[in-house]
Amino acid sequence: MSADASAHVWIPKPVNGYKAVEMRATAVDDRAKPGVSKWELDTPALCVDLDKMEKNVAFLQASLKKNGLASRPHAKTHKTAAIAKYQLSTGSIGICCAKLTEAEALVASGVDRILMTTGNLSAGKIRRAMSIRKAHPDFIQAVDYEPNARDLNDAAREAGIIADVVIDVAVGTRSGIPAGDGALKLAQLVDTLPNLKLRGMLSYDGAVQHAKGFANRKATALSAMEPNIETYNGMKKSGLNTEIFSGGGSGTYNIMHHVPGFTDVQAGSYLFMDMQYLAIGSEDGNAVFTDFAPSLTVIATVVNNRFPRSLTTDAGAKALTLNVPTAGVIGEPGIAYNAGSDEFGVLRFSSPLSKEYKIGDKLEVIVPHCDPVVNEYDHMYGIRNGKVEVVWDVTARGCSQ
Ligand SMILES: Cc1ncc(COP(=O)(O)O)c(C=O)c1O
Repeated sequence: MSADASAHVWIPKPVNGYKAVEMRATAVDDRAKPGVSKWELDTPALCVDLDKMEKNVAFLQASLKKNGLASRPHAKTHKTAAIAKYQLSTGSIGICCAKLTEAEALVASGVDRILMTTGNLSAGKIRRAMSIRKAHPDFIQAVDYEPNARDLNDAAREAGIIADVVIDVAVGTRSGIPAGDGALKLAQLVDTLPNLKLRGMLSYDGAVQHAKGFANRKATALSAMEPNIETYNGMKKSGLNTEIFSGGGSGTYNIMHHVPGFTDVQAGSYLFMDMQYLAIGSEDGNAVFTDFAPSLTVIATVVNNRFPRSLTTDAGAKALTLNVPTAGVIGEPGIAYNAGSDEFGVLRFSSPLSKEYKIGDKLEVIVPHCDPVVNEYDHMYGIRNGKVEVVWDVTARGCSQ
């Protein structure tokens, strides 16, 4: 190796509790070495402010503990083994996964205690889920459909295991079996199938997470949970195992302890935050949701400034995914960011900005919705005090099956 080439090889050392093995063995580009300013990174660059993220983790843990609940964060947000391990090492009782490939990627990177919140329907996926369970006795699978429970039981028998299962009971009309007799019957069936072990139920309300105003969110969340609470009580009365009653997200983490029997919150976005969540409002009446700090940003470069009241950046739909609500530029509240163009962000403003942006200048953007954005990047820069501290592979990036 020439002296010049070796200058670009970064041999990672453990920093601030993140293990070297979880970091990239070599620099992802020749500027991304630890200690480099975030403003020097090639763009669009997905960055996470580590102080803010760690504070978000500590805050969630402390508030749930105060309310007698545990955390089982959803990895669909970060898809990153190093972050999942950090969550487990700071008190979370498990990690949720949405997709089988996501679970497989995280397990292969050493993440354990996974609860799959989505059912696996095909024979191949069921077999693969059961082979995770065979290697990891702490793996739990959600089920919301009677034939699927029977298929799982058969696959568990073939694998020579007794698989842990929770019933996914719907809140609203997305996934899950409707609350009521059907859900109770499914729980009873799982309880009687010899190769399944019923562990309880989950109920996640996606629609209420972004309800605006805390009082409105609380009333809506608790009233939507009433049929699920009845199902939970029915399971308990029938002597079924209800040791897990899981659900809730970043918008309802401080509401779910009002649900009798509830055990743990599956929040995901609390780590990073985004424009959608900033708009929901806090318990203290603040119109901005200030409970968690926006730690995730995308750094973009200005590529055109030659048109009046307009800037173009290199971060469009492929960098920011959704355009509703629009991305926010830190320090420039007057900018309307349109990320609708594949490769370009088109920024308009009617009043003067905080500075005159030249071609090549950088901007830092809070993303519209964090989960799909993370899925667009191979790696994430962990930033502390404005400088790169770690570079993480997004372990389950693109794992959507
Ligand atoms: C089943 C389930 N649990 C938890 C979450 C995490 O929710 P949030 O990112 O709003 O905290 C999601 C997100 O869609 C989900 O589908």
